Amino acid sequence: FTVDWDAGHYDNGGYEHYLLKEISEQPDTVARTLRGRIDDRFHIAHLGGLNMDARETRSFRRVKIIGCGSAYYSGQIGAQLIEELARIPADAEPASEFRYRSPVVEPDTLYVAISQSGETYDTLAAVQELKRKGGRVLGIVNTVGSAIARETDGGIYLHAGPEVSVASTKAFTSTAVAFALLALHLGRVRDLSPADGRRICDGLRRLPEQIKEILTLEDQIRELAKKYADAPGMMFVGRVRGYPVAREGAQKLKEISYVHAEAYPASELKHGPLALISPELPTVAVVPDDELLDKNLTTLGEIRARDGRILMVGHRTSEAADDCIVVPRNEVELDPILLTIPLQLFAYHAAVALGRDVDRPRNLAKSVTVE
Ligand code: AGP
Repeated sequence: FTVDWDAGHYDNGGYEHYLLKEISEQPDTVARTLRGRIDDRFHIAHLGGLNMDARETRSFRRVKIIGCGSAYYSGQIGAQLIEELARIPADAEPASEFRYRSPVVEPDTLYVAISQSGETYDTLAAVQELKRKGGRVLGIVNTVGSAIARETDGGIYLHAGPEVSVASTKAFTSTAVAFALLALHLGRVRDLSPADGRRICDGLRRLPEQIKEILTLEDQIRELAKKYADAPGMMFVGRVRGYPVAREGAQKLKEISYVHAEAYPASELKHGPLALISPELPTVAVVPDDELLDKNLTTLGEIRARDGRILMVGHRTSEAADDCIVVPRNEVELDPILLTIPLQLFAYHAAVALGRDVDRPRNLAKSVTVE
């Protein structure tokens, strides 16, 4: 590992930790990622940095997204957005796995590498391997002029500002927003209707205010974090749009509180992990009000029947859960962005309650620049 933590010259803005500052900045950072990129005339995204004309943008038949850790989970949200809005098959894979399995690189696949730092070695090496094989690679990167930004053929800068705390928060949400713009862009040169384009543009514009609303839930979330923090482990579940959110929620909790956390697709519980459910292993369930709501509520019933405690994060309260965090609704495709934020606050306050070194968790580096 390379530990390049030098926060000395960054202002903590009066917050106790950089992590809380960065969580709280998200109304602004999301607004910055969006700034100047929404076109209300054609309901499209302006992404000049992609360096691709409409004909080339139409030519891709698949999208492959690579990144490490939280960047990879945000890529899973991105893959779903691209499939839903542009109807192009898309999937995400850890960059390290991708580079070591000698991937088949195809000319009609658009590759997208994600990195907050732009310096993660596994992601950079995957980009270099792709370029060597003639692949077309875009970067979704926060750090301007970083190695991955330089190596890629074009891309989208997040403009989220420096992220100091080891755990990624604002870069995660900005990456998901950048993917929504990319999906809109790919969709509107294909079959996404102007009406749906407009729906997504309007939804994107609502995000900063809705994030502000979620941040007002901090007192409630602090109390919930204290209530659950002494559990020896936690299960995180979600279906489809909720699943990458669950993975990121588990990642945040593990990373900064050292509480063991497992994330599973809710539908997989009965294929094994249901055996773990007991009062000692509470579940965080990500339950948006989408077409899978009933299925998710059934899962909560199955957990309850095994005496599992449930903290539900969604758009409504439910008697099937012990505790509920209710966030505002957006368009269903964009809901994962908002559902992530309470889980960041939950992990933060769990870590504080347990007395952890929130900004510098043990064994981790902000940027992993070696293999
Ligand atoms: C996120 O909380 C982690 N610290 C980690 O998973 C991180 O996202 C990963 O190492 C990738 O970093 P990058 O975005 O700078 O490439």
